[in-house]
Amino acid sequence: MAKAPSNAHRRVAIVSGLRTPFVKAATVFADLTALDLGRIVVSELVQRSEIDPNEIDSVVFGQVIPGLTAASIAREVVLTSGLPRKIEAYTVARACATSVQAMVNAANAIALGQSDVAIAGGTESMSDPPIFTSRPLAHALAESSRARTLAARVKPFQKLSPKDLIPVPPAIAEYTTGLSMGDSAEKMAKENGITRKEQDEIALASHQNAAMAWKAGFFDAEVMHVPVPPKYATVADKDNIVRADTSLEALMALKPVFDRKYGTVTAGNASPLTDGAAALLLMSEEKAKALGYQPLGFLRSHAFAATDPADQLLQGPAYAAPLALDRAGMSLKDIDLVDMHEAFAAQIASNIQAFASRAFAEKLGRSAPLGEIDRTRLNVNGGSIAIGHPFAATGARIVHQTLRELKRRSLGTALITVCAQGGLGAAVVLERV
Ligand SMILES: CC(C)(COP(=O)(O)OP(=O)(O)OC[C@H]1O[C@@H](n2cnc3c(N)ncnc32)[C@H](O)[C@@H]1OP(=O)(O)O)[C@@H](O)C(=O)NCCC(=O)NCCS
Repeated sequence: MAKAPSNAHRRVAIVSGLRTPFVKAATVFADLTALDLGRIVVSELVQRSEIDPNEIDSVVFGQVIPGLTAASIAREVVLTSGLPRKIEAYTVARACATSVQAMVNAANAIALGQSDVAIAGGTESMSDPPIFTSRPLAHALAESSRARTLAARVKPFQKLSPKDLIPVPPAIAEYTTGLSMGDSAEKMAKENGITRKEQDEIALASHQNAAMAWKAGFFDAEVMHVPVPPKYATVADKDNIVRADTSLEALMALKPVFDRKYGTVTAGNASPLTDGAAALLLMSEEKAKALGYQPLGFLRSHAFAATDPADQLLQGPAYAAPLALDRAGMSLKDIDLVDMHEAFAAQIASNIQAFASRAFAEKLGRSAPLGEIDRTRLNVNGGSIAIGHPFAATGARIVHQTLRELKRRSLGTALITVCAQGGLGAAVVLERV
């Protein structure tokens, strides 16, 4: 296998990671903001990893649906988590691949020798999305604020109709196509011939694997307990979306949500709207050695790619994975575990299909497909359908979860992928030693 990557700089170690429990929106974290969740996870990660905070030189953090009060979330995480204020920080966004982007940005700076120790991650509160006013109401408010007399202040509102007063939530839809993520998953299911049963089987495996991982204690070191402010009377100590008791029958009985008449995508085989945060501690290999850390693993390669959102929106992994594997000097056969973010079961099945498809390989200009993914090595501790998907936190959750599983199984390599809005795909090759 494996020739060394040709553009190697300093090797980047992932030393530790941590996440909050991932919980359904509007439940236990309903009163917390994304900044609260980010600050909580970063300060606990620093304490648990026993790193001297003065060693940390940068924080790269992301949020997909930013709030209006703390837009520079990475810097606010530094300023509110008790870290030294000299730590520089910046915010990134790459839709659902945001914390993959945060990780590779931090890693690239380490590889180039511009950083030694960095924290990367993401946070999301779907309980606290920004709610906008309609354009006519926004214009009326602005016009009114410029007016000098009471009559002139009132006048702009007289033009409004009742519908202008309806609040506008953030769209989980493609700007260019107007299709929601769920609509796009439906489209992929139909175009790729993915059956309802196959989707529900993927969802069932996600729940069963995640429930097994919780029961076996695998997540104990990955997921912190959060005493929930302001009263601290409740302690969130587990994901609350995982259903140990779900069954294929229960999943198959659910009604389709996006195409109610002919559709196959349901609340059971889609990732749910979720609150949570996750973070990783990264260092150069030399620094990790100097500080006496045994890294969880190393970042071997990564790639981002894109497809036309009007085509198969969530097929990004099948475009990015070949690039990441090429850059790692590996093929799918060299990979021990695959962790593919589960936006929807239809998207998982479609990407698995594309990985193995000769026609898809030809479309990419490749002589052969990547190959069949061994389902027994895919999302072995559950994925975003069961665990949940706080958009910006998912990538960091997957990286950490996968590295710990490699260690548990004494395996060496993993491929992780994330699909994202805009037809984007991310892929990362991780190695344990
Ligand atoms: C699909 C979606 C609309 C469903 O939202 P919801 O209606 O709030 O979902 P709920 O959790 O209330 O589930 C609906 C029902 O299905 C049931 N259900 C959900 N998952 C189930 C499972 N695994 N087994 C059995 N029943 C299940 C619930 O119990 C609920 O039943 P009830 O109505 O009797 O209470 C929402 O999760 C969504 O928008 N997801 C997509 C998010 C997205 O676009 N992500 C981007 C991906 S990149």
